[in-house]
Order: sequence, then C-alpha cells, then structure tokens
Amino acid sequence: MSRLESFIRRMDAQRRLLNDAMADVADTPGVVLELGLGNGRTYDHIRENMPGRDIYVFEREVRAHPDCIPPDSHLYLGHVIDQLKRAVEDMGRCAILVHSDVGNGDEPASIDFGRTILAPALKPLLLPGARIISDQPVPVEGSTKLPLPSDMHHERAYCYRYED
Ligand SMILES: C[S@@+](CC[C@H](N)C(=O)[O-])C[C@H]1O[C@@H](n2cnc3c(N)ncnc32)[C@H](O)[C@@H]1O
Repeated sequence: MSRLESFIRRMDAQRRLLNDAMADVADTPGVVLELGLGNGRTYDHIRENMPGRDIYVFEREVRAHPDCIPPDSHLYLGHVIDQLKRAVEDMGRCAILVHSDVGNGDEPASIDFGRTILAPALKPLLLPGARIISDQPVPVEGSTKLPLPSDMHHERAYCYRYED
C-alpha cells in the first residue's frame, strides 16, 4: 500500500471512530478532552460536530493552524500527564469523550506509556459512559475495549467505553 493510501486510511479511520464516539455521547453532559493538538485537525472536527461543548486541549507546544488554537481558558499547556493532574484538581470527574493522539513513532514506548502512565492519569477524569478514542492502548481500569469496525482491524486505533 502506498504511503498516501496508508495516510488516507488512517485519517478516515480517525474520523469514523470520532464520529461514532461523538454520536454515542451526544445526549450525555460532560466535557471533551483532546490530548495532542498537533495542527488542530481533530480538534476542529470535534468543535464543528459538538457545538457548545467545552473542549479542553492538552499540548506541550502549540503549533496548530491559527484558526484551530483553543482559547487559553481551555488549553492545558505542558506535558500531558502533569496537565491531566491539574485538570483533575480544576474539574474532577468531568469528561464524556477523550480523544488521545499523543503516541510517538516508538511503538513499544508508546504502548507502555499508554498502559502504565496515561490510563491511570485519565481515570479520575472520566464520567460513567465516557468514550475514549486513542492511537495507543489506554486500558483504563473499569473500561471495556470496543471492537473496531470489521474493515478497520489493521488500524492502530483503540476505542473504549468507561463504565465504572
Ligand atoms: C500527531 S499530533 C496530533 C494531531 C492532531 N490529532 C491533529 O489532528 O492535528 C501529536 C501532538 O501531541 C503532542 N504531544 C505528544 N506527546 C505529548 C506529551 N507527552 N505531552 C503533551 N503533548 C504531547 C505533540 O506536541 C503533537 O502536537
């Protein structure tokens, strides 16, 4: 598969999974956490599809498209784990949707980070019924891993529903 096709497939999967999760939580109150702003593509997509919803963005260095920079009041600037701790202090259990896209190219390290560091840091922020979409496994205790659509099983994408 060409790199172009692989990129398109990854973006399509990200959009489909986000759309499904946003539809699932549409009627449930709670904020959205966007971990990794990047150039702001997924932030902008969530913003467009969940108007009026508070979206808090976690990013260590903002380099997004100027149209896609969140207001300071909704930006947690710094290492995601330190900032998630701050968010727990600020907001407590508040999140109905988490989109995490902070994995790096080092797959074993990203997997280890997701399982052992990111998952426990997210747990105190999640509301019952919260959905998590992630580019790395984040098996938060109390969550169920959801199957990917059958045509998507080669994607590096992980979906969970938190039930605790
Ligand atoms: C792949 S990009 C996100 C792309 C974004 N979803 C989009 O659609 O444009 C990953 C982002 O996560 C941020 N990031 C990675 N590790 C981080 C960490 N430990 N703490 C805070 N931000 C981090 C990087 O700075 C980068 O901007």
